[in-house]
Amino acid sequence: MNRPYIICHMVTSVDGKVTGDFLFSPECAGATELYYDINRRLRSDGFICGRITMEGSFTGGYYPDLSEYDPICYDDGLKKDFIPDAMSGFYAVAFDPKGRLGWKSNKIIDPDGDPGYDGAQIIEVLTEQADERYLGYLEAMKIPYIFAGKTEIDVQQALFKLKSVIGCERLLLEGGSVINGAFQRADAIDELSLVVAPVVADKDDKPLFTDGTFSAFGLVRADSINGNVVLNYRKNNCGA
Ligand SMILES: NC(=O)c1ccc[n+]([C@@H]2O[C@H](COP(=O)([O-])OP(=O)(O)OC[C@H]3O[C@@H](n4cnc5c(N)ncnc54)[C@H](OP(=O)(O)O)[C@@H]3O)[C@@H](O)[C@H]2O)c1
Repeated sequence: MNRPYIICHMVTSVDGKVTGDFLFSPECAGATELYYDINRRLRSDGFICGRITMEGSFTGGYYPDLSEYDPICYDDGLKKDFIPDAMSGFYAVAFDPKGRLGWKSNKIIDPDGDPGYDGAQIIEVLTEQADERYLGYLEAMKIPYIFAGKTEIDVQQALFKLKSVIGCERLLLEGGSVINGAFQRADAIDELSLVVAPVVADKDDKPLFTDGTFSAFGLVRADSINGNVVLNYRKNNCGA
């Protein structure tokens, strides 16, 4: 395979939603705990999230003053990937088409020190829309970045680079709904790892895959744990 193996790991409501207040309800607390526990045990080279999830979970909406940074531009007018030499082997991959995430460090600092996230080396996946001064900021922060697409991230191209340039063999896709949908439409999800909480979500909450299309998975395992259901499905595996 010319891309990493992708496991989409998510908490869902019984009606298949993944965003909204239900995630913070007491009835969902056990599912969330299970989710983080499984996250720590799933072997991977790191995790991928969409820009909105990264903002909610890690950057908190911080954005640097780009006027403080020199633009990165080349004579041929092309934007080029930036991969510093010394990088850790566990990655937090941000799908951030326009370069809107403000990081204060080049590694994830998890407030609880969760080993499933803490210390992960941040990688930005950008499109050519990203401001040249944002590239200057990333380089000053020693945050690697790769380009995949002009205005929209080309999921297959991004994954190809994550394997061939960074060396990722196996990554977790951890939401939210929009980025999951982009991966599903690109046929780039090999496995689903779902923790189903015993709650129904609000009508405005988003599904596991925004704008998903038909695809089939085989059920590998289903466990009931403390009132939650843990499901594991694989592509090309018909009910093993
Ligand atoms: N249930 C769970 O296990 C779980 C896990 C993680 C997150 N969440 C929840 O998910 C929510 C966020 O989900 P979300 O669906 O709103 O956003 P999201 O998927 O986290 O991020 C969407 C953003 O990613 C960027 N993006 C990158 N590549 C893209 C592509 N190929 N196509 C489209 N957009 C691309 C776009 O950023 P720009 O807007 O900058 O263009 C887009 O708006 C949070 O509230 C969080 O609580 C739940």
